Amino acid sequence: MGAGTVASEIRAPDRLLLRKAAAALAAARHVCVLTGAGISAESGIPTFRDALTGLWANFRPEELATLEAFERDPAFVWKWYEWRRDLVRQALPNAGHRALAELARRVPRVTLVTQNVDGLHQRAGSVDVIEYHGNILRDRCLAEQIVAERSRDVGGDLPRCASCGGLLRPDVVWFGEMIPGDAMRMADAAAGDCDVFMSVGTSSLVYPAAGLAETALSRGVPVIEINPNPTELTRHADPALAGPAGAMLPALLEMLDWK
Ligand code: APR
Repeated sequence: MGAGTVASEIRAPDRLLLRKAAAALAAARHVCVLTGAGISAESGIPTFRDALTGLWANFRPEELATLEAFERDPAFVWKWYEWRRDLVRQALPNAGHRALAELARRVPRVTLVTQNVDGLHQRAGSVDVIEYHGNILRDRCLAEQIVAERSRDVGGDLPRCASCGGLLRPDVVWFGEMIPGDAMRMADAAAGDCDVFMSVGTSSLVYPAAGLAETALSRGVPVIEINPNPTELTRHADPALAGPAGAMLPALLEMLDWK
């Protein structure tokens, strides 16, 4: 199923599930969407846990995505993040990202929470995206704990803060770190208020993000999952659409038109 697949190209059983998902969206007042690395996979950005291609299959998170690792060897960590930044800069939003931006124009209210740090939702036209794990293209000053500009003094090999000269780090949430307060509050509020929850391209393994769908489930609202592979959430999702986001989301929008 290629990107931008139309609903009629989807297998009949899946079309029934798509119709069910579209019916829930058509009746929704507020849709909360949580996305993960899977929605950016079709833009060429590796996911984290896919067995072979996932970042964590080739790199050790404890050596690269913790504050301890950064303090131990900031140059090593920065080298890896510069490599990922290049991937992100070269990537383009795909049909899945664009479909979610379009969905926000079709239903009264969409709250888009992303675990992704690539900014591709915003580049696809989504607004007020909640960046639950930060953004890889921003720098944060380690000392002042604020998003900061880089010092133009390129003497050292590590990026320095333009205001205090301190070490800069990527503005992302590392393992063992707290989710930014505003992002957490807004995401919890949306999961606590929505009447449809959609989980797209996430393994639903990493908390507290994975808890958002559980909040929705505990309120008895329909949880739609889009993922080509089964996850911890699949047996609770209704419906679970087993396919790539770049195919399922445009087809879902098209179904919405039929409503
Ligand atoms: N469309 C939809 N889903 C896809 C696609 C696709 N084209 N390709 C892969 N997937 C699914 C995989 O089946 C998998 O379940 O996307 C999921 C990606 O899971 P992870 O790699 O675990 O990524 P994610 O859930 O976003 O990880 C959560 O963990 O490593 C940390 O901070 C990092 O934000 C990340 C968090």
